[in-house]
Amino acid sequence: MLDRMEGEIMKSQEKLNFSPRILTGDRPTGKLHLGHYIGTLKERLKLQDDYDTMIMIADLQVFTDHLKDYRSIKSNAKEVMLDYLSVGLKESNTFIIQSQIPELSELTNYFNFLVTTARVQRNPTVKQEIKMYDVSKMSVGFMIYPISQAADILLFKATCVPVGEDQLPHIEQTREIAKTFNRMFNPIFPIPEPIVGECPTLIGIDGKQKMSKSLDNAIFLSDSQEEVKLKVMKMYTDPTRIRPDIPGDPDKNPVFLYHRLFNNNKEEVLELEERYRKGKVGDVEVKKRLIIAINQMLEPIREKRKYYEERPNIITNILNDSINRARKIGQKTLLEVREAMGISYGNLL
Ligand code: TRP
Repeated sequence: MLDRMEGEIMKSQEKLNFSPRILTGDRPTGKLHLGHYIGTLKERLKLQDDYDTMIMIADLQVFTDHLKDYRSIKSNAKEVMLDYLSVGLKESNTFIIQSQIPELSELTNYFNFLVTTARVQRNPTVKQEIKMYDVSKMSVGFMIYPISQAADILLFKATCVPVGEDQLPHIEQTREIAKTFNRMFNPIFPIPEPIVGECPTLIGIDGKQKMSKSLDNAIFLSDSQEEVKLKVMKMYTDPTRIRPDIPGDPDKNPVFLYHRLFNNNKEEVLELEERYRKGKVGDVEVKKRLIIAINQMLEPIREKRKYYEERPNIITNILNDSINRARKIGQKTLLEVREAMGISYGNLL
């Protein structure tokens, strides 16, 4: 029975023919780093020519686990905007700040009635967070942030969501909410597809954990030449290879992983790997070449960042235009949602 209904919905979805739109976002908890670049920014750069691209600075989500850091939200949001534009995301994309779109809160409120408390707690990411934070001390807002994330995506009827792997449970929950809504009320939402980048998680310079600002193992897109040098020089290598004349395995040394991802000179990378396997190159040389490669990659990004830093009005204008546009789209969706849910009062009011 369910299958048949799903089939019907799929058919009506096809008929609705949603135009290709991306919605994705980041929490403004700090500057973006190489992990963001390789995990999602590169993907967004590729997709922005083919999709109407909406990118959200998810400031309300900072209240989930960084409530006490509320004072830095604004400056972090500005840094993230600078990161976006300096890596080459086009000014013509729609860049929005979550808290400035009140329509999102309204949609979240409606969606809250479509999700059981059990389902919320079954979300793998939330489940892990419940373990870390103790459920009785978790705010209601924290527990239901995946529902608010579903609203972020569905308010704009996004068809695709480029994200890191850790976000997949949230996209799955978004798809479920869209299907439930479409089945119960009216099929007005697309069922969005996630798109995961080529390298979903990048290991940090400590060689142990995922690159992250809070673990102090990140190379930021805005790092200076000198900072890149210091960080690469202290990068973790293979601790079992105690002398440069011992044959090594590049796969066991994260410096080579970085070379493969960030060094455009593929011949150089192959040559270094070859010498490493034969015990004919030391870590210092491998690192020095990586410093050059990363700095070469970051140089145009630094230049663009400087351009935008000197012209803050550009960012203000982009944000204002984007938020206006997004709110209009959101208001249109909400009219349909209220109508579908039977709370559109027409000429009674
Ligand atoms: N949860 C995402 C993160 O922590 C940020 C985010 C908020 C998001 N809303 C979104 C991502 C909507 C994709 C789509 O990185």
